[in-house]
Amino acid sequence: MEKRIALTGIKPTGTPHIGNYFGAIKPALELARDYETRFFIADYHALNSERDPQRLKEQTHQVAATWLACGLDPEKSLVYKQSAVPETFELTTILMAFTPKGLMNRAHAYKAVSEENRSAGKDPDNGINMGLYTYPVLMAADILLFNSNVVPVGRDQKQHIEMTADIAQAINRNYREELLTVPEPLINELTQIIPGMDGRKMSKSYNNTIPLFLPSKQLRKLIMKIVTNSQGIEEPKNPENCNVFNLYRLFATEEEQEALRQRYLAGGMGWGEAKQALYECMEREIAPYRERYEEYINNTDQIDAILAQGAEKAREIAAGTISRLRRAIGIA
Ligand code: TRP
Repeated sequence: MEKRIALTGIKPTGTPHIGNYFGAIKPALELARDYETRFFIADYHALNSERDPQRLKEQTHQVAATWLACGLDPEKSLVYKQSAVPETFELTTILMAFTPKGLMNRAHAYKAVSEENRSAGKDPDNGINMGLYTYPVLMAADILLFNSNVVPVGRDQKQHIEMTADIAQAINRNYREELLTVPEPLINELTQIIPGMDGRKMSKSYNNTIPLFLPSKQLRKLIMKIVTNSQGIEEPKNPENCNVFNLYRLFATEEEQEALRQRYLAGGMGWGEAKQALYECMEREIAPYRERYEEYINNTDQIDAILAQGAEKAREIAAGTISRLRRAIGIA
């Protein structure tokens, strides 16, 4: 039986961190077993907020190097840059004609900024560009171009996938033909619960991330700065609601977790010691990936070659979707 298609995009707007690793990278790579997987770097989505060309380029390489280092096999999964598939932008234009303005008015990402403006007494459109406003249409093009059945994303992106399905259905209905595959979101709840340095959800916007590939010494130093309460060494500690323990859970085996839990409850263990245990567990999992990451990031020509090869294959698939649509629309 043909495998179903899973596709997801990653915006290169920051350095990949532990939250991305558990929330997006690991689960998406695991999908490669059961699905035909397609991963791309959404660089034109990043342009809405990233205006420094050097940084955009660097972050694009960092994202690609991270996925490759963590096990993305370009022979098995398609990997490419959004910007290298110009069919995306033709499809965006087609989708625009079928997207009600009111649908975009309801998009969370845009609404959040406009409401923030309103409550600050500013013009509601302050700082909002058309890229942000039409963000869901470009995202729909990314998804529909590649006949995606499922789109693994965090909960914050669910609405975008639902909008994509709405737009696809409007087109299929109009031309009375299954021209576009209607996708479903595959929501990963883990993205919501990975705590950052301060215990809030790990997120670039809270400035509380732990970068995935910090050099070992810097990683240890950062872990030592994770926020804890001010209990002394002798006091018994509660592993629940503890940032250090919640991060430890992600990396440690069941037995290790149980052993550390007992040490928390018994007292006589300071925060420094708990953090050291976390550091060692993290280092065990990340160090092999870090080595591969360093190889890729120091050889960006190799990354570019992999992405170019991916783009070539991606464009073949994209051309099929576009010619199907052009014919149906009446312009070909
Ligand atoms: N909007 C997604 C994010 O911010 C990134 C993205 C762009 C995406 N296009 C996509 C994700 C298509 C899934 C499918 O995380």
